[in-house]
Amino acid sequence: MKPFAYYNPTRLLFGQGQLAQLPAQVQKYGNRVLLLYGGGSIKRNGLYDEVISKLKEADCVITELGGVEPNPRVSTVNRGAALCRSENVDWVLAVGGGSTIDCGKAIAAAAHYDGDFWDVVTKKAAVISALPLGTVLTLAATGSEMNSGSVISNPDTLEKHGWGSPHVFPAFSILDPAFTASAPKDHTVYGMVDMMSHVLEQYWHHDAHTPVQDGFCESILRAVVKTAPLLIEDLTNLELRETILYSGTMALNGVLSMGVQGDWANHDMEHALSAVYDIPHGGGLAILFPNWMTYVLDANVGRFRQFAVEVFGIGTEGRSDREVAEAGIAALRTFWSSLGAPSRLAHYGIDDSRLEEMAEKATRGTTKGNFRKLTKEDVLEIYRMSL
Ligand code: NZQ
Ligand code: ZN
Repeated sequence: MKPFAYYNPTRLLFGQGQLAQLPAQVQKYGNRVLLLYGGGSIKRNGLYDEVISKLKEADCVITELGGVEPNPRVSTVNRGAALCRSENVDWVLAVGGGSTIDCGKAIAAAAHYDGDFWDVVTKKAAVISALPLGTVLTLAATGSEMNSGSVISNPDTLEKHGWGSPHVFPAFSILDPAFTASAPKDHTVYGMVDMMSHVLEQYWHHDAHTPVQDGFCESILRAVVKTAPLLIEDLTNLELRETILYSGTMALNGVLSMGVQGDWANHDMEHALSAVYDIPHGGGLAILFPNWMTYVLDANVGRFRQFAVEVFGIGTEGRSDREVAEAGIAALRTFWSSLGAPSRLAHYGIDDSRLEEMAEKATRGTTKGNFRKLTKEDVLEIYRMSL
């Protein structure tokens, strides 16, 4: 294990009926609120009305910004920040999936930054302070509801980058499985692929003596593997939604990476992919991750064997470590495909014409990953394997 510091100030309000806590949160952060949401799912499923009613109960003055894009854009961030300033907003309430929450984090910080927020995303400027942020999550996927990261896209430059700051941890996040029950099958599946990928990015490390961290990771992965097939056949089942919701949050709130250095190359490769082609994040990960696993297998065959045995229950009798490891990788691919996740870039009509450009964006003149450091050529090869 490596020495580590852990800090996570987000108040998690988890379970059915927790929206009732919203007025009490307003008391803490002020009554002038920017209500941020996506393309309209919350209007169709009734959550918008419920949130408005709770905010009115707390005498809020509400400024609204709807239409946050999946893969949220920096132009929307800058627009939201201008609204916060002109309307003298006290805090931001993001109601939606990871895109809306990530946009909320960026707006909360941009409200205190006098300039184009792309400066912060590209690390030319730092966040000094931010407005408080609350969230109501509607899609189990990114873990953004309990972490300090955010991913913002710039369609003008075809870039998509993560940035983060301790100032943008949500002050509170309301997670009610009922609010995720209207998520369609494809986005439900993308979300489950994403949360499994988050666990995996933290599982592929070279640190020794991490049985507790390993157990946490394997336990989340097993829970998703067991629950996902049931959920896609029964999308409104709240017990199943609850398990997946909890899994998504625990997968990326910092707990799994205590004392270990994970990898994250798959996220870098996927962000370059969705920057250029604007595809769903989980769809891109489903295509790339098993190919990355095959490509880096030799970095630690034993670790892959452990994954195969502990997560997919692959039998070891009469098989070499490598055979067990390869069976684990195949099991992950088969599992994601069985849920309906894509396995080839061709699924999105992507050919080999821009692989070089994406590999350049993913590596940006350096290497990516830690389990095995990937050069631009390595990334290019993994994209080719994914065609
Ligand atoms: O926009 P609306 O109308 O709300 O519809 C959304 C959107 O079309 C829909 N949806 C969400 N909840 C729903 C629902 N539809 C019906 N009922 C509901 N209850 O689902 C679609 C996708 O939503 P989005 O928020 O884009 O998905 P997700 O949560 O997967 O977020 C993806 C973004 O998060 C970034 C990704 O790169 C991508 O930009 N990530 C953020 C991370 C973080 N902050 O820690 C880490 C992740 O690795 C990821 O990179
Ligand atoms: Zn992700």
